[in-house]
Amino acid sequence: MQRERLLKVLVIGDLGVGKTAIIRRYVHQVFSHHYRATIGVDFALKVLHWNQGTVIRLQLWDIAGQERYGNMTRVYYREAVGALVVFDMTRASTLQAVLKWKGDLDAKVALCNGQPVPAVLLANKCDQQRQGLCAKIPKLESFSKEQGFLGWYETSAKDNTNIDKAIMCLVEHIMAGE
Ligand code: GTP
Ligand code: MG
Repeated sequence: MQRERLLKVLVIGDLGVGKTAIIRRYVHQVFSHHYRATIGVDFALKVLHWNQGTVIRLQLWDIAGQERYGNMTRVYYREAVGALVVFDMTRASTLQAVLKWKGDLDAKVALCNGQPVPAVLLANKCDQQRQGLCAKIPKLESFSKEQGFLGWYETSAKDNTNIDKAIMCLVEHIMAGE
């Protein structure tokens, strides 16, 4: 008998950091330089054959960066079991915004057992390193620990760097906690 698990995972972070691009890369293996802001929320589904007995239906909730200024996040966050919090390595302001997003998440949702929803930090657009990364980005190891993230990854939706790894880190943690 196959066991099926539905996991709701949020993808949050400021405008234009690459949330939609990361999801499109992960689910559809495509990337586009064209930017169209997400309105409200979008959804994507990835089916993972986890092990012999288990299929995971990973439901990714792609929440518009604009929603930080709206009042719908409480509704979108309901029943989430994990989150990817994304910033853009070339814009320090988007790392500042990670504090706001993580705070919003922890204030509005928790696991059934009262624990915070596990979250992984994604430093996206690492392919732009040659154009000079923002010097104001602090040491992510300590930042990520202080802010209660499971871990952090430098990612690129463009070059397909570390996206699978970051999502696997989150899913493995979620499945281990079941
Ligand atoms: P909102 O929907 O407004 O919240 O933005 P978003 O976080 O979904 O950003 P989106 O994925 O639409 O990406 C914004 C822009 O950044 C687009 O032009 C993408 O092509 C570009 N982009 C996203 N990821 C990367 C990346 O890893 N490297 C580079 N070079 N560009 C990226
Ligand atoms: Mg988007």
